[in-house]
Amino acid sequence: MATADSAVPPGPPPPGREPSPGDAEPPYLLGLRLAGRRVVVAGGGRVADRRVPVLVRAGADVLLVSPSATAGLEGLAGAGKIQWERRCYRPGDLAGAWLVQACTNDPEANDVIAADCEAAQVWCVRADSRAASAAWTPASGEAGDAYVAVLTGDPRRSAGIRDAVINRLRDGTIGARRGRGATPLRGVALVGGGPGDPGLITVRGRQLLSEADVVIADRLAPRSILDELPPDVEIIDASKIPYGRAMAQEHINAALVGHALAGRFVVRLKGGDPFVFGRGAEEVLACLRAGVPVTVVPGVTSAIAAPAAAFVPVTHRHVAQEFHVVSAHVASGAEASTIDWIALARSSGTLVLLMAVGRLDAIAEALIRHGRASSTPVSVIQDGTLPTQHTLTATLGTVAGKAVAAGIRPPAVVVVGEVVNIAAEIAELLPGRQRWIGTA
Ligand SMILES: C[S@@+](CC[C@H](N)C(=O)[O-])C[C@H]1O[C@@H](n2cnc3c(N)ncnc32)[C@H](O)[C@@H]1O
Repeated sequence: MATADSAVPPGPPPPGREPSPGDAEPPYLLGLRLAGRRVVVAGGGRVADRRVPVLVRAGADVLLVSPSATAGLEGLAGAGKIQWERRCYRPGDLAGAWLVQACTNDPEANDVIAADCEAAQVWCVRADSRAASAAWTPASGEAGDAYVAVLTGDPRRSAGIRDAVINRLRDGTIGARRGRGATPLRGVALVGGGPGDPGLITVRGRQLLSEADVVIADRLAPRSILDELPPDVEIIDASKIPYGRAMAQEHINAALVGHALAGRFVVRLKGGDPFVFGRGAEEVLACLRAGVPVTVVPGVTSAIAAPAAAFVPVTHRHVAQEFHVVSAHVASGAEASTIDWIALARSSGTLVLLMAVGRLDAIAEALIRHGRASSTPVSVIQDGTLPTQHTLTATLGTVAGKAVAAGIRPPAVVVVGEVVNIAAEIAELLPGRQRWIGTA
């Protein structure tokens, strides 16, 4: 079925139809505030199924008139979100209506509805004929506080333009910092940047980044997207290099607070999720204690994403019903370690170990000593989701030696458990053997 923004572009009427006012003139675009206002929708098929939820979202008082309806519309009626009269359109249905959507699959019925609307001076959108429609629905969408509506003569082209604009608003390449005027953002946003691939930061994270005056970025954050920021954005490198140079946490906290109190909007761009071994909560507390407003944008954690990028599922039906994410930055047996390695060794769940590369020997030894078979499969995923991603497959008994031989370096996620065999099964079916699949 055609939609109102359909095949006939604005311009001369189709052959066989007399020109009428409005055929050549451009439409007058308007944003209708429909809250509490009656909108009549005639017809309960596919077109109505798409349009009614948008009307409901706008707060309209929707009367659906149709002998039948899609499951979605029936659900809305059942939930009391719309009123549904199970019958055909009748002239009195327009009482109190501000807008009508004529979406029946019968052009003659739509003719009658459109004529009644014309007589009552109510706007009517016809789904079956763009040319005969008094009003057109644009391809629309929203990004943050911006509403975008596009009308061309071709609905696919309209949707394409709409998508392009929405995407660019969402990724911050248009309309953000430079265009914000009256209400600049304040305070600090802790943004989880994901595991490294710039495509794995969230839409919200990207948006806030595009509004930043100052960005304080970790080493494992997706740093390539920082290049896209305007030159006047101050970028502070808070790299924490394992066993190496680092910006002390108190200096990071002081920078967050200092810039925010000076009126700048600060994005703290962190790797993965800010609250997974990321000291994110410490930074939140430091901001709040200094009276700085703070928001947290969750991120895709490397604990799950790095294995997933190597086709290692952390759970699998009948194989692993649980997974444990462990920071191995303190050696097992060390006084500061709070990890119950005995319980982990005895559990049948998948173990996901972060910051474990330097201690693989001791970890494998502890797990074997406490009951895990030395033949338990292990996968080590280095640089997960990055172009340099590399996976080593081994067993608990062999992993430490193999990792040294292969030159495995941080960042890497170590997965211990039978799920590693599922990855091997998947690898067999992948088109072409992938370079990073090793063998035990
Ligand atoms: C300080 S933790 C931060 C974790 C982060 N907040 C997250 O949710 O992913 C750093 C560790 O995360 C893991 N890691 C982070 N990014 C990784 C990646 N792209 N590939 C593999 N491991 C990664 C490594 O174990 C690394 O040593």
